[in-house]
Amino acid sequence: MTNNKSNLLQKKIIELIDSSNQKKITFADYMNLCLYDSEYGYYNSENILIGKNGDFYTSTSLSSDFGELLAIQLEEFWRVMDKPTPFHLVEVGAGEGNLTINILNYLKTHYPDFFQSIEYIIIEKSEILAEKQKQIIKKSFNKSVISKWYKWEDIENNSLQGCIFSNELIDAFPVHLVEFNQGILQEVYLTNNEGNLTEVLGNLSTIEIEDFFKTLNINFSQDIYPEKYRTEVNIQALNWLKTVTKKLKKGYVLTIDYGYQGDKYYHPQRFQGTLKCYYQHRHHNNPYVNIGCQDITSHINFTALETYGERYGLSNIAYTPQALFLMNLGLGDRISELSSGKIPIGEIIERRNQLHSLINPEGLGNFGILLQGKNLNKEQKNYSLKGFKY
Ligand SMILES: C[S@@+](CC[C@H](N)C(=O)[O-])C[C@H]1O[C@@H](n2cnc3c(N)ncnc32)[C@H](O)[C@@H]1O
Repeated sequence: MTNNKSNLLQKKIIELIDSSNQKKITFADYMNLCLYDSEYGYYNSENILIGKNGDFYTSTSLSSDFGELLAIQLEEFWRVMDKPTPFHLVEVGAGEGNLTINILNYLKTHYPDFFQSIEYIIIEKSEILAEKQKQIIKKSFNKSVISKWYKWEDIENNSLQGCIFSNELIDAFPVHLVEFNQGILQEVYLTNNEGNLTEVLGNLSTIEIEDFFKTLNINFSQDIYPEKYRTEVNIQALNWLKTVTKKLKKGYVLTIDYGYQGDKYYHPQRFQGTLKCYYQHRHHNNPYVNIGCQDITSHINFTALETYGERYGLSNIAYTPQALFLMNLGLGDRISELSSGKIPIGEIIERRNQLHSLINPEGLGNFGILLQGKNLNKEQKNYSLKGFKY
């Protein structure tokens, strides 16, 4: 089944290459087809992708804790903004719908006033996942919460007030692959070599890549960079941020993902970039196998989001590691509860593993949480928010 799907997608990609003017496509186009092709793309599959029975875990698939603690922070945003109604909670890339359910369940029980004010909007690229999300939310909440699925183009500019948030969204955007060779920065393309996908190097496909490195002050012609230095550029992340800024009238943008600050991302020692593939809980570096049946991701560049965010009209409010964020919001109390005698002994180990995974410095705990804002007043920006205290 997997092989059949992979072969069909590879055939489709090769046909696209053959019919293109230059007989080649960028790696970003290739990755987009692997992940989001409407027939065979990874995220357009009926299979479970995320969690124990999928290919990888996210914080939201481990337990309800992540969503519940995040809900506490979302409620504080609402209060800091003087409790507007409606308050838009806009989740982008909701996957299997776990985070949505966990946030809404918690708010319904613990913060009923806030719950009443929420308009929950999901922006989801995969039609199959959007359908799954609709089913699961309908089953859990029926009509007790307003939930809507939109494309960005259906939302008017400057119309959202609230918080636009995402978990592991930007790492799933297709990236341009670039390589530095003999003093020039080139881009990786794919061609059809007698039925096989083959990499070739060519000129940069868009001026935005050059602009990106200039903006971040990254200069590969310094001696410290080795020959054949290869890395990625996530131009879609910048376009996404521009759209988000345009649609937001007032409020917060909360981005949770794994990544680095700019200079660390493009460190000379990271000469093969950060591209990774996930298949049945194993990871490797080959994006040309299991085509359409494996996830392909790259780390995100938080400095780029901060720098371009400011350019587009967002202010940078805070950045913190996930472990600290969750501890500030009460994860420590949940760990202490394990020894309170209230939890059945048989559940303690599993529960402890779930909680520890969320703050593991070698894993999810090291994720970054970036908070940006638009049209917030001085007090709202400087407010000492629970999750971001040091
Ligand atoms: C790695 S999954 C993360 C899912 C979920 N947030 C979680 O934490 O489990 C990435 C999600 O983002 C969605 N996605 C990717 N690109 C998107 C885009 N441009 N707009 C909206 N959703 C997108 C994918 O379809 C998928 O639902």
